[in-house]
Amino acid sequence: MAQKNLILLGPPGAGKGTQAKELSARLGLPHISTGDMLREAVREGTELGLKAKAVMESGGLVSDELLTGIVKERLARPDCVGGVILDGYPRNLAQAAILDGILSALGKDGARALELEVADEAIVSRLGGRRSCPACGAVYNLASSPPERAGRCDRCGAALVQRDDDKEEVIRERLRVYHEKTAPLSDLYRRRGCLATVDGGQNPEGVLAALVKAVG
Ligand code: AP5
Repeated sequence: MAQKNLILLGPPGAGKGTQAKELSARLGLPHISTGDMLREAVREGTELGLKAKAVMESGGLVSDELLTGIVKERLARPDCVGGVILDGYPRNLAQAAILDGILSALGKDGARALELEVADEAIVSRLGGRRSCPACGAVYNLASSPPERAGRCDRCGAALVQRDDDKEEVIRERLRVYHEKTAPLSDLYRRRGCLATVDGGQNPEGVLAALVKAVG
């Protein structure tokens, strides 16, 4: 059976993490978020985390070299045999080439990309309202999906936090970096005939339905 190696593309705050969790549950594929892996490394104070922390806080991209090892190791695990949902990787053309090499070296099928389109101004207001649970990873939005009890996670009751890189000046820098480095990936996968674009500005249920249809 063909593997489903799926890449979620889109600007910061487009809903990649939100949709990756849903798709992961529906398709039974692991959700691999390089942002989550890096944030965990920062929390745990590992060597990777120490190297990545300042770059992430500034809104820049962590070096390709630091990402290659963790992505390669994660994709080689047995739960990736039927496919994966990549969220936040690749992030530039060099990483796309590295991913091609990793998939081929592991004997896996090439990746298909699913792009979420959302306007920059909607992103700034969405990310300003994002709150996350540091204990279980649930993500809320004060405007579109608030927790039932203010400031507390519905699932586990932990106090919700705002991500360090969700301050307006950092969001604007992340968007600038996205347009310069990540947006060209859409053309790459389009040229390969491996890109589906979905309107990420609709409600999360509408986005999910469009993604499921695109995955086929
Ligand atoms: P990363 O964690 O990948 O961040 P990002 O790409 O900026 O994406 P976000 O996690 O901010 O947003 P999202 O699209 O997942 O949206 P979400 O679903 O949460 O990377 C962080 C940093 O790590 C990078 O800046 C970089 O430094 C480093 N990094 C990571 N990967 C790297 C790599 N490969 N190379 C180099 N550096 C790397 O939704 C956002 C909010 O909107 C939530 O509140 C949510 O509830 C809400 N929402 C979601 N969908 C909708 C909807 N349809 N309508 C209304 N609200 C919605």
